[in-house]
Amino acid sequence: MKVKKAVIPAAGLGTRFLPATKAMAKEMLPIVDKPTIQFIVEEALKSGIEDILIVTGKAKRPIEDHFDANIELETNLKEKGKTELLKLVEETTDVNLHFIRQSHPKGLGHAVLQAKAFVGNEPFVVMLGDDLMEDKVPLTKQLINDYEKTHASTIAVMKVPHEDTSKYGIINPGEQVQPGLYNVKNFVEKPTPEKAPSDLAIIGRYLLTPEIFNVLEVQKPGAGNEIQLTDAIDELNKTQRVFAREFKGQRYDVGDKLGFMKTSIDYGLKHPEVKDGLKDYILELADTFKKEQKIK
Ligand code: UTP
Repeated sequence: MKVKKAVIPAAGLGTRFLPATKAMAKEMLPIVDKPTIQFIVEEALKSGIEDILIVTGKAKRPIEDHFDANIELETNLKEKGKTELLKLVEETTDVNLHFIRQSHPKGLGHAVLQAKAFVGNEPFVVMLGDDLMEDKVPLTKQLINDYEKTHASTIAVMKVPHEDTSKYGIINPGEQVQPGLYNVKNFVEKPTPEKAPSDLAIIGRYLLTPEIFNVLEVQKPGAGNEIQLTDAIDELNKTQRVFAREFKGQRYDVGDKLGFMKTSIDYGLKHPEVKDGLKDYILELADTFKKEQKIK
């Protein structure tokens, strides 16, 4: 069956970005000039996804409005002949988007469970706004290509520094069935480096079969007292095969402040409007830092 549906959970509290996220979903924070969730929607569309469900929490309106027409703004830009800006504003409206609310942020697994009726009996992808991915073939498309061969759930993973395992779901890999595609013995949510079975961490893209919902419906809270998607995937792996696809492209972690700032700089250095000015500024800063070090 073709993979046509994507679920984007965006109902977390975003505590790492407070106070910015007090009244706004962190997925609306922009990298240079584009909200992170728009990058995710673009990756979905490039991967052949036709329908997207966004699971929202308290801050639903700005996300909904972002992907809706804004007649007043469009008329104004048209009148002023700002055609380039008009194009940017209009290009977000041509997407088949659906919204559902997660009333309480009980965890990622619980957020995904809200998508049960939308997904029905089809395979689907879950895409997290915390990770922006760049590769020749979009990561979501790589997972779909795997699914077309195996018809099994496939989770994206990536090598992370050993001391960071407690920030991620970690896999205990079995043998590789194809280059970069692993059988998985089990999945562990946020293990300490001593207990981590590998350095292969789950990153924010999952291709799941609909049987995941049977597991999620009875899933007990795990780490952090949240209903964890990783625990449900570990359970699913006991009744059907679940693979892990190692991502070799570039991952930008925009889920924490430092990662977000680094991503903004990397994207700024590629942005036609600001790249030259930003580069000059970085060189200036580097110069100042070097002088300061010499004085010390
Ligand atoms: P995070 O672990 O990054 O949590 O969730 P968070 O609450 O958004 O951020 P911090 O850690 O407090 O800063 C991973 C993804 O799962 C979604 C989040 O929106 C994010 O995209 N999520 C998490 C939900 O949709 N619902 C939840 O109950 C928890």
